[in-house]
Amino acid sequence: MESKIEKQKRVALVGAGPGREDLITIAGLSEIQQADVILYDALVNLKLLTYAKNKALLIYVGKRSGKHSMTQTEINTVLLEYALTQNHVVRLKGGDPFVFGRASEEIEYLESFGISVEIIPGVSSAISVPANQGIPLTKRGVSTSFWVMTATTKEGQFSNDLILAAKSSATMVILMGVRKIHQIAELVRDYRSGLTPIALIQNGTLPEESCITATLNSTENAFEAIDETQPGIIVIGDVVADHTSFYDEEIQRVLYSYL
Ligand SMILES: C[S@@+](CC[C@H](N)C(=O)[O-])C[C@H]1O[C@@H](n2cnc3c(N)ncnc32)[C@H](O)[C@@H]1O
Repeated sequence: MESKIEKQKRVALVGAGPGREDLITIAGLSEIQQADVILYDALVNLKLLTYAKNKALLIYVGKRSGKHSMTQTEINTVLLEYALTQNHVVRLKGGDPFVFGRASEEIEYLESFGISVEIIPGVSSAISVPANQGIPLTKRGVSTSFWVMTATTKEGQFSNDLILAAKSSATMVILMGVRKIHQIAELVRDYRSGLTPIALIQNGTLPEESCITATLNSTENAFEAIDETQPGIIVIGDVVADHTSFYDEEIQRVLYSYL
């Protein structure tokens, strides 16, 4: 029998954190536990879904290559459908929803139908993935700021911000750039010393996490065998020298180049 007091319908846009299950916020976890339906992205740790109610609908709406891919328009439509028919909808996104998460598009779409959306921030991979490797983004006397940017624009070209950041002395944090790491290093080398440290961290905070450090001069050798299908973050700047293996890896490469 329907309850006399109809439950208030809710939609929450929740940041799932960078990967490791326990790097979601308490508020985010609580939303998962209460949800009737969860629409989740490719980079969300599937272990988080085990906290959902038994009867909750779990719907994959990811866009990563290799899996069935939904367009943003299709995602918006599915989201609206559940928002209209279910009591508690959770839209679960990797990292923080507002960092390259296309959250605004989903919110605007739902709001255009009179549905308001609550936002639960998440721990962005942009900051936490380097931190997990012991790479600070700012450091007294070394770096006073950092820029978080995407490698390419929606037209597939390098963004102008990439060039502006390369010209600055800020730490550069580049998302969605794994496939273009060599071109990025080449571009940044036009503005910074070839000895500038660079790191590529893939699958950050997860058991399969990897981190390779190099200098802009040595990227060709260092990143020769990377798996370009895995999500990664590129960090460029002197702060990368704080990584425990930076000097060891670079010395090895210099020695090998003389053999
Ligand atoms: C569409 S963006 C979404 C970012 C997300 N909203 C956030 O705040 O972390 C996806 C990109 O984030 C980066 N990324 C997300 N999780 C990552 C992880 N665990 N390790 C490395 N890179 C990650 C990769 O550059 C990936 O291509």
